[in-house]
This record gives sequence, C-alpha cells and structure tokens, in this order.
Amino acid sequence: MSKKKILTVIGARPQIIKAAAISRAIAEHFADELTEILVHTGQHYDQNMSEVFFEELGIPKPNYNLAVGSGTHGHMTAAMISGLEDIILKEKPNAVVIYGDTNSTIAAAIAAAKIHVAVVHIEAGLRSFNKAMPEELNRIAADHMSTLLFVPTAAGMKNLAKEGFDLNIKAEAKIDAPNVYHCGDIMYDNSLYFAKMNAGRRSILADLDLEDSPYILSTIHRDSNTDDPRALQQIFEALLQLIDQTNMQVVLPLHPRTTAKMKHLLKEDFQEKISSNQQLIICPPAGFLDMIALEQNAQLIITDSGGVQKEAYFFQKPCVILREQTEWIEVVESGAAILCGADQEKIINAVHELLNKSIQTDASIFGDGQAARFICEKIISDLPC
Ligand code: UD1
Ligand code: UDP
Repeated sequence: MSKKKILTVIGARPQIIKAAAISRAIAEHFADELTEILVHTGQHYDQNMSEVFFEELGIPKPNYNLAVGSGTHGHMTAAMISGLEDIILKEKPNAVVIYGDTNSTIAAAIAAAKIHVAVVHIEAGLRSFNKAMPEELNRIAADHMSTLLFVPTAAGMKNLAKEGFDLNIKAEAKIDAPNVYHCGDIMYDNSLYFAKMNAGRRSILADLDLEDSPYILSTIHRDSNTDDPRALQQIFEALLQLIDQTNMQVVLPLHPRTTAKMKHLLKEDFQEKISSNQQLIICPPAGFLDMIALEQNAQLIITDSGGVQKEAYFFQKPCVILREQTEWIEVVESGAAILCGADQEKIINAVHELLNKSIQTDASIFGDGQAARFICEKIISDLPC
C-alpha cells in the first residue's frame, strides 16, 4: 500500500492540543503509512495561545503558517480559505484533516471540499442547537462537507442520523456517501496521556501559592459572555461573591479576548474591584500541562469552554458551565455539571449544590484513550490512494 498524505489544519488553541493526539499516533504506529503536513492558519498567535503547545506537547512545527491573525468572521475565514486552497493545490494530499468548530475548521472544509479533496472531520456530530453560536454554524457546515466523520459521543451519532447521515459503513467513503464512526474523544486520549506524563507536576500551584489552599478554577472566553457587558458583569459578580461565601480563591487563566473585552465593557470602578481582590488570581493563559495540574487540584471548575468542561469530567471535578446549552450533554446528564448561562444567582446556587454532593463520572463514555489510533486506521483503509 502506498503512503497516504494528510494535510492537517489547526489554528485555535484547542485544535493545536487536539492535533497532538493524531501526530503522536502517526509517529508511534503509522509512520510507514501516513505522512502529515501541518498547516497553522494563525488564528491564535500569542506565545501562550499557540507556540507553548508545540513545545510542551511534542507537536511537529507547522509546515506552513498563514498568519491570518484576528478579525471579523468574514475576513478571517476568507483569508484562510484563500491561503489553504493554494497549499492544498500544491501539496495534493489524500485528505484534509480538521478539528472541531472554529473558523479555521470551516475554512479548511470549504477550501478542500470545493476542489474535491476529502475532508476528515474529527469531533463531528456535536450540536448545541443554538445557531447564534458561530461554532454551531461551523460544525454543521463542516460535517456536511466531510467524507470521514469521527464522532466522540453517542449523542453525536444520533445528531448525525437525524440530519440524514447513513451510519452504515461503506468500503470506500465519498463526500456523497461518507463514513461516520463513533470513535471516542481524542481529548480523552490526550488527557490520559499527558496527565500520566504530568504526574506530580505542581510548579504552577507553587508559583500561584495554591499548594495548601483549596481553589476554584475558572475560564471565560465564549463570545456570548465576553461581548455582552451584562453577562460579563454577572459572571464576575458571581466569582467575587463566591470568594466571600466559600473563602476559596478563584484562579482565572484569562483568554486574551476576555482581557480585551473587560477593559472596554466593564465600568472602571468594577474593574478596580476585580483587580484589587487578592483572592481572585487572574493570570495569563496556561500551558496545557499546567492547565491539567490546575484542573486536577481544583475543588470545582467554572467555565464556558467546551474542552475544559470535559476535562473537569475526566478528572472527576464538579463543573459549572457558563452557557445555556452544551454539545457535551453527557456531562450534564451525569449530574457532575450544571448549565447556568451567565446568571449570577444560578452560578452561585450551582456551586453550592455541587460542593455539597459527591459526583459520579464514567469517562468510558468518551472512549478508551485510543481514538487517535482508530482514526488513523480508518483514514488508511477508507480513502482511495
Ligand atoms: C476561537 C473559536 C472558539 C474557540 C476558541 C478557543 C471561532 C469562531 N471561535 O474563539 O470556538 O472556543 O477560539 O480558544 O473560531 N486574541 C489574541 N491573541 C491570540 C488569539 C486571540 O489577542 O493569540 C484575541 C483577539 O483580540 C481576537 C480575540 O482574541 O480578536 C478573539 O479571537 P478569535 O480567534 O476570533 O476567537 P476566540 O474567541 O479565540
Ligand atoms: N487550556 C489551556 N490553557 C488555558 C485554558 C485552556 O491549555 O489557559 C486548554 C484546556 O485544557 C483545553 C483547551 O485548552 O484542553 C480548551 O480550549 P478553549 O477553552 O480555548 O476552547 P474550547 O474548548 O472552548 O473550544
């Protein structure tokens, strides 16, 4: 069998982390069958939003970087499509691999599918049923342009069946007859792998003086929270109130989007209240290994991140989700997480409820930690040379 070439497109922080699982599986098991070309769109570009992950997770340096940077949805996506088309035409890969639901995901799907290159969508099938989210539009469109769809959860499989996808596996997948696989979550692969590698890592806890004190970990970056002054204010009011009520510190590695929006949207005296609170530790975005250590040692996690709510579940931590819906409904159905939107009262009540009960988690619903290996096997077997 001749070696297949895949072109992997990454751009946003979680995609860089996800790509580590596939790059690792190729290096360990499929080096004779798969060559990977890595393209970074440049959607995320700060050192702590991009480069740090290549260094610490052993991801090969990107072969190309489009350096698209920040902008409106249309500008970013258009610049990515144009740059990616040139690279796909030059590299002639057997498939373009995309992750999740960002603007980099949809740009790569459009660029590849329009010139008849197979799209492999990892993290397919997820739905929030809220089309006000840019991510919902991106993921629906990307799924419908894909030839191989790798679905992390049973709920994702049901979503695709409802949208008319034929779940029977064909010998050769095509864009009009795609193959859909329930394969588990590559982020579960990564969490198991890097948590093991990370065992005992506590330097971030020492640096933030957290070793002997219980704390809540929080992340905020979803546009529905950062771009609406009322939502942003309610979330920070809740965090400050929780510090008073629980006497726990809150650690907030802050996404650059949120840092920028806080300056513009929050009143100056409220910004002062936030920055002067010694118990609210606002720090720059963390590397993934530090993030795992922060998650594993937290009492509870408050987040609007898709990835972080799942990692809370993997590490058996209760989680308050700062959204009205989630694509990862299993974590809510288990009782380990509660959806609160940006409602101050709901957030506070949910934290107290979760701190006062023991939660049950079953990470096997996210697979066996070998999803990346399965995906590589199917890319090799299901796509023409
Ligand atoms: C993007 C994804 C979102 C994902 C998130 C992961 C889309 C539509 N959204 O949201 O699904 O959950 O990434 O983190 O693709 N910025 C910097 N430096 C950086 C990156 C961003 O300063 O390295 C700032 C800029 O002000 C930029 C803003 O963050 O305008 C938003 O960045 P953008 O990539 O547009 O969206 P995210 O909110 O990061
Ligand atoms: N993450 C990280 N450092 C941080 C915040 C998040 O390494 O300061 C990791 C987190 O552990 C998870 C991923 O980034 O694996 C989630 O990315 P993000 O929250 O940016 O996006 P989402 O998952 O919501 O798309």
